[in-house]
Amino acid sequence: MTKILKTIEELQDFVRNIKKSGNSVGFVPTMGALHEGHLTLARTALKNCDACIVSIFVNPKQFAPHEDFDRYPRMMDKDTALLRTIGVDAVFAPDVETMYPIGYQTTVTVGEVSKPLEGEFRPTHFAGVATVVARLLLLVGADKAFFGEKDYQQLQVITQMATDLAIPTKIVGVPIVREESGLALSSRNAYLSGQEKKIADQLNVVLFAMADELKAGTDIAHIEKNAAQKLLDLGFDSIDYCTIRDAKTLMPPTAETKARRILAAVKLGKTRLIDNIAAN
Ligand code: PAJ
Repeated sequence: MTKILKTIEELQDFVRNIKKSGNSVGFVPTMGALHEGHLTLARTALKNCDACIVSIFVNPKQFAPHEDFDRYPRMMDKDTALLRTIGVDAVFAPDVETMYPIGYQTTVTVGEVSKPLEGEFRPTHFAGVATVVARLLLLVGADKAFFGEKDYQQLQVITQMATDLAIPTKIVGVPIVREESGLALSSRNAYLSGQEKKIADQLNVVLFAMADELKAGTDIAHIEKNAAQKLLDLGFDSIDYCTIRDAKTLMPPTAETKARRILAAVKLGKTRLIDNIAAN
């Protein structure tokens, strides 16, 4: 039985009952329009914890005024049916007034790691994400919370925030789930037309080619410039970034860099796509 919890009281009663019997709680925050990527997070939570709670909340604070908050896909019934099939214990689906009651005033901002890449192109985004995730983590009080590497910088921002604020929930990263074409699953893929989808399928191919060139010792600036040109030639409309970074700081690699990550954000028609892969 998957319980639908709407209020903070219902959520906290539910969690208290699980913990009372000595069981552990896994938590998966989402904005709904669930796909196999989200379901993999929930399955991982179920594997690692005794119970799994998934939240569905399209967080207005993380969308800029010109972004897609209004047209973001909402399909609560389909989502809860999916979560039921995999045995999720509860869905927390608060309304905006529950998450941000009248008089709400606090914003959580994370420092350096939130500034490059997404931070440059969506300057208010990570404060919105950190604010809602901090509140959700504190409300749920889970043992572990699961986040996808799909939003790689988000995972680093949340890990930093949870460490800095001493939030007792352990943050766990989960690898990206991809379609057969290699396209990273995303709720925003639903915006793509048939022709756009074919172009979108090539994004990961370009990133994997960059990893190969890096391995072969090609100069980073050269790899980045070539990849950007390749993406434009393939039909992407514009490139916010397509770059090789330090996997932890997300700044350009330095002598201290232990692992590197290749990250890209591109626009295709009205859709903005992000993807990333590990590189060494
Ligand atoms: P949303 O985009 O719904 O994603 C919820 C979680 O699913 C995130 O941790 C995201 O990284 C993960 N995810 C999405 N696509 C994935 C894929 N293809 N493979 C693996 N994981 C994937 O990210 C958010 O919502 C919001 O910012 C949120 C954290 C819920 C705060 O509002």
